[in-house]
Amino acid sequence: MSNFLDEVHNGLSGKVKKLNPKWLYDFNGSKLFEEITKLQEYYVTRTEIGILEKNKSEIANLIGEKATVIEPGAGESKKISIFLKSLIEPKCYVPSDISKKYIKKIGKKLKKKLPKIKVNPVVDDFTSKKRINNKILKNKNIVVFFPGSTIGNFEKREAIHFLKNIKLKYKPKKIIIGVDLIKKKSVLLKAYNDKKGITARFNKNLLKRINKELKANFDIKSFKHSAIYNKSKSRIEMHLISLKNQKVKVHNKNFHFKKGETIHTESSHKYSPKSFNQLAKKSGWKVKKIWTDLNRQFSIQYLI
Ligand code: TRP
Repeated sequence: MSNFLDEVHNGLSGKVKKLNPKWLYDFNGSKLFEEITKLQEYYVTRTEIGILEKNKSEIANLIGEKATVIEPGAGESKKISIFLKSLIEPKCYVPSDISKKYIKKIGKKLKKKLPKIKVNPVVDDFTSKKRINNKILKNKNIVVFFPGSTIGNFEKREAIHFLKNIKLKYKPKKIIIGVDLIKKKSVLLKAYNDKKGITARFNKNLLKRINKELKANFDIKSFKHSAIYNKSKSRIEMHLISLKNQKVKVHNKNFHFKKGETIHTESSHKYSPKSFNQLAKKSGWKVKKIWTDLNRQFSIQYLI
């Protein structure tokens, strides 16, 4: 917990205020994100599921038999179920997450859906360098499954670090990864500023969480959700804009906000096949195959 407080203090002390997006995903945040994935404007989830469904046998043939599938930061079970069901005699599924409670739940849920598959949950922070101490690393056909364009939530240098790090950590031979593609700005802005205001609630939930867990006094109403497209960085940026000059106390420290000043809470980087290819190369991976939907909105990529 002191970790959370320190990070919030640090994030709000800089010239540009920002918070680590991982704190968005507490119980309420994860539920709100799940609602986002079902929104009409949010093309990401259904498009990725469509690509996966359409190409599952080709993907399964490339992966080959007796795969051990590791999913860093495992979440909802729909995509992984499609993937595992299509594989040829998969050996086991390894969901990994920082929360033990959460990961156990994921494991149980999947066992219900796919009783035949061996589930071997691992408690681990996928951004840490720590090796996992587990016999599964002796398996031959290790595959990392990383959907949802979560890779896009990293800064570019962090994404490279992540792809290098998982190679050392899990010793996979292959990666199946979801990568969102650069597209018309209007489509992106709609997806991240939905009409029902769910994304706004998801964003503001972070302030609620800070109030609750860190004894802070953010006046939620005096902050506004905003998602903009930063073209030079090819990314959506999510911000909370202060609607007035104000002072906020977080535990024992005061922070000043000018009217219009923002807190940057998360980014979602968009790639072209070419720019992601370069990123993979820099990380020691090679893009072997790309599948997209007909409108080229989203991609699933096979790295070796
Ligand atoms: N992985 C999701 C995405 O990049 C996370 C997300 C949901 C998000 N809503 C957001 C990121 C708003 C930035 C802004 O689409």
